[in-house]
This record gives sequence, C-alpha cells and structure tokens, in this order.
Amino acid sequence: MAVGVFDSGLGGLTVLTAAQARLPQVPFVYFADSANAPYGVRTSDDIYALTCAAVERMWEAGCDPVILACNTASAAALRRMQESWLPKDKRVLGVFVPMIEALTERDWGDNSPPRQVAVEHVALFATPATVASRAFQRELAFRAIGVDVEAQACGGVVDAIEDGDMILAEALVKSHVDALKRKMPEPQAAILGCTYYPLMQDAFQEALGAGVTLYSQASLVAESLADYLDRHPNMLGSGSARYLTTGDPRRVSDRATQFLRRQITFEAA
Ligand code: DGL
Repeated sequence: MAVGVFDSGLGGLTVLTAAQARLPQVPFVYFADSANAPYGVRTSDDIYALTCAAVERMWEAGCDPVILACNTASAAALRRMQESWLPKDKRVLGVFVPMIEALTERDWGDNSPPRQVAVEHVALFATPATVASRAFQRELAFRAIGVDVEAQACGGVVDAIEDGDMILAEALVKSHVDALKRKMPEPQAAILGCTYYPLMQDAFQEALGAGVTLYSQASLVAESLADYLDRHPNMLGSGSARYLTTGDPRRVSDRATQFLRRQITFEAA
C-alpha cells in the first residue's frame, strides 16, 4: 500500500518532496492530472468530477490514504467527496487544515472552539477557484476569531510555471502582491495557498517584504502526514513509488525534472 499524492499538475511535487524527506520509508504514488490542468479556472462541479476520477485511479494503483496536494481540489471538492462519495474504508486528506492549524497555533486535530490568535491581518494567495470557494475563511472561522483575511486570486501564475516561463510567473506574483497590498497595506502573514507557489516563494517574500511571515504548505503537510501515519500504523504496507500522469509522460517528466532538479520519470496513468 502506498500513500497517494494528487495534484492537477506539478505543484504537488513540492508537497511530495517534503513528504519523501520526512518519511523516507514510505512509498508514494504521485498523480498529475496534467491533461486537465489547470483546475484553478474550472467550476467546482468540474473540479469535483476530475478529482473523484483521479482518486479512483489512485486506489487502483494501491494508494491509501490519498492526499489532495492541491488547494483547489481541497477547497472545491474535498468536503463534498467526504460527505457524499467517499467509501467508509478510504481516506482522502486535504492540504488546507494543517496550514490553518499552524496559523492558529493548534495541534493536529485540536477541535476546541475558535479563539483569539496572534495574527490579525492575513493575506491569502490562491487560484481563482480556491478564492471563490471561501473554504479558507470557513476553516479559519472554525478555529480563530478576529482574523481579517484578504484573498488575492492569482490568475496566470500556474500556467506560467507549467510553461516554464519563470520570468512571467515572477512578474505576475509581483502584480498580485501589489493588488493585495492595495486592499490590505500591512499583512502580518501570507498564506501561499497553492502548491505551485513554493516554487515562487522568494518572489512572494521579496514583494511582500521581510516582515511578513510566509506560510507554505509542503513541510506542514509532511509533518501532519507523519503524525497521521504514526496514529494509523497499519496503513503502511508494501507498494512501489510511481509517477502517473494523464498528460504526455515525456513532456511532464522533462518539466518535473527541471523543477525539482532531479530525474523524475512519469508514466501514463
Ligand atoms: N496545485 C493547485 C493548488 O494547489 C492548483 C493548480 C491549478 O490551477 O490546477 O491550488
């Protein structure tokens, strides 16, 4: 049995890399739905249908649990999947909650009532679909009171990264940060709410200024997965690591190898 890591494309590799470093004994299957990426400009019905299909394919590959290493899928589809689709014996985990727990100074699974936390002004950078879902604000409201969130939909950034056009990606990050600052001049913390954005972390930090604390998901999600597997030791079994894609495996492998600066070889899903 392997742990599945799902993303619409290559962004989830940032989460996979942190999870592999934290849990070197665990086999991971990575699934990139590259043929249908980006998800961030799709409707929530579309994102739901595509995510369910991908998760089914990952079950066929022997994955459990499956991590949705995609904020857009976590925001637009996960709750609906858990409420009306997911079989009782399967687990699908999202990437939102670990980050919100870190921001609100909570331990894993602390479901106590919402309380005052240190940060008051938070900037959220995410895809248009994640921003439209308001899932971040909803999950935050369960845990904290008095936090002012300003969300910035970062159109175009994922496409630019997928195309390998990092100059365009940087210019777009700068203009999205400028737009955010017009609405919230002095954020204390910023959430990089898309798994592609850690690849642009320096650009976000530079545009925001050194005083703004950046929350980036990869290490937070890896830590919470380690915690989860500790509490569910029977989940760990045999199974081999694979990289699957619905896109062109050669092209996706080249791009992934370029991003991570190590050889990654995808096969057709
Ligand atoms: N990786 C995704 C996320 O974390 C979204 C990218 C896309 O638009 O497909 O939101």
